[in-house]
Amino acid sequence: MADWSVKNPYSSKLTENFILNSQGSRKETRHLVFDLGDSGLTYKAGDALGVIPRCPPELVEELLAASNFLGDEAVETHLGATTLSEAITDHLEIHRVSKKWIMSLGTRLVSDSVPVEIHIARRHRVSTDDGSLLIDWSGSGKDEDVPEGYAEIGAACDPAEVLWRELTSDAAAMEDYLWSRDYVDALSDFGHIGFTAKQLIDGMDRLKPRLYSIASSPDHEPGTVHLTVAIIRYSYHGRDRTGLATGFMADRCSIAETEIGVFMSPTRSFILPADGDTDCIMVGPGTGIAPFRAYLQQRDINGDKGRNWLFFGDRTEAGEYYYREEMDDWKERGVLDRHDLAWSRDGEDKVYVQHLMRKNGVEIWNWIEGGAYFYVCGDKSRMAKDVHQTLIDICSEHGGMSADEAKEYVEKSLMKTEKRYLRDVY
Ligand SMILES: Cc1cc2nc3c(=O)[nH]c(=O)nc-3n(C[C@H](O)[C@H](O)[C@H](O)COP(=O)(O)OP(=O)(O)OC[C@H]3O[C@@H](n4cnc5c(N)ncnc54)[C@H](O)[C@@H]3O)c2cc1C
Ligand SMILES: NC(=O)c1ccc[n+]([C@@H]2O[C@H](COP(=O)([O-])OP(=O)(O)OC[C@H]3O[C@@H](n4cnc5c(N)ncnc54)[C@H](OP(=O)(O)O)[C@@H]3O)[C@@H](O)[C@H]2O)c1
Repeated sequence: MADWSVKNPYSSKLTENFILNSQGSRKETRHLVFDLGDSGLTYKAGDALGVIPRCPPELVEELLAASNFLGDEAVETHLGATTLSEAITDHLEIHRVSKKWIMSLGTRLVSDSVPVEIHIARRHRVSTDDGSLLIDWSGSGKDEDVPEGYAEIGAACDPAEVLWRELTSDAAAMEDYLWSRDYVDALSDFGHIGFTAKQLIDGMDRLKPRLYSIASSPDHEPGTVHLTVAIIRYSYHGRDRTGLATGFMADRCSIAETEIGVFMSPTRSFILPADGDTDCIMVGPGTGIAPFRAYLQQRDINGDKGRNWLFFGDRTEAGEYYYREEMDDWKERGVLDRHDLAWSRDGEDKVYVQHLMRKNGVEIWNWIEGGAYFYVCGDKSRMAKDVHQTLIDICSEHGGMSADEAKEYVEKSLMKTEKRYLRDVY
């Protein structure tokens, strides 16, 4: 059996690709099913799938046109010798310009003979051998502070050089520039300096695989891997753009046709309790639902006796209630014992999962005191932080601990020692 890995990915194909949101939703979250065929790949609930995206062909074409290349030019990347076209399709990320690439323009863009700041104040004239005059100045060189017959320094500079100086001296301006631009945008600002094929790709980010929490149990969905993916779409500078991997999967992967490089990314920590009698509390708003669908499938198949409590939510019940029928079925059959739903945009006030946790603080504490595992999956920057603090508050309030003791209990005992507070956040 082949040893599939990030360096040797299995070529899978999609068997299903549909939008989970109802019409009218302003989000696009897709359910994707990958065929494992005869790969021999295996996984467990809690693992992630690595997906190797390809850059959009239209963007590759636009970039070649903007840089006046045909695509058959020979280049060298971290993956070896190839053509420019292949390099910017499969080796490098071209949908977002990199800081390194911008920085590297400096030596070619900024001529040494033009000082960053000239000092202008007439002192004396010096005659040179060839008869011309050199003038030694001291002054700002800006606004009116220039010698007669000389223009303001900025006005005389190449606008691309002025932009480059601004970006490299102001971190916020650089971040702002990189956030909304790809290399076609960058060439419209800097392309006039001319690029060899090597110069064009030097400093571009290497194309990285993306990980996705698997939304299926291998026992429930044999031979396939299911994902729940939020598609990233936005528009800047008059052009529609997508996230690299989400755009690839949503727009350019045809069912049973397109080959997609995948590999398994097994988890050692984000796992179900070994004892099926253990209770599980799962907090997974948005795409955070993915591994909990896998867990519930697995616990259902195992016939585990431990109780399951799911906190899910998203913007609206009508638009984003993913896997509703499956949840209803699990509730009816007693697999899902508690199901709390937080719809953040259905009412006047935001309702988030942590608000519902707080409401149910006594019971959450009782479950935890009784040995329950506590899982969180989804957005790392906001949701997971707030859920973490709420868990600490609940332990403090209902477990009779001071704030410091509760923090220590959650972060040391639950997380590190007992390993029953587990997170899969991104
Ligand atoms: C362990 C793990 C599990 C994960 N599981 C899942 C999962 O189950 N489902 C899921 O959907 N994702 C999951 N992710 C996230 C996933 O790996 C990708 O990061 C995500 O899909 C975006 O990839 P992309 O290539 O489409 O976007 P990229 O091309 O990498 O772009 C993403 C970047 O776009 C930027 N961006 C976002 N919105 C905008 C905007 N409006 N304007 C400008 N820039 C913007 C952000 O800076 C973001 O960093 C997981 C990540 C990890 C690490
Ligand atoms: N640019 C895009 O097109 C796009 C689209 C989808 C997702 N994404 C990104 O993809 C990632 C995953 O998205 P996702 O679909 O899984 O869902 P998400 O964007 O994380 O949102 C899921 C739910 O969490 C809520 N939420 C926001 N802040 C929260 C907080 N502090 N605590 C608890 N809940 C909070 C959201 O409410 P509110 O949104 O009402 O505040 C929403 O109801 C996110 O990082 C997101 O930024 C980008």
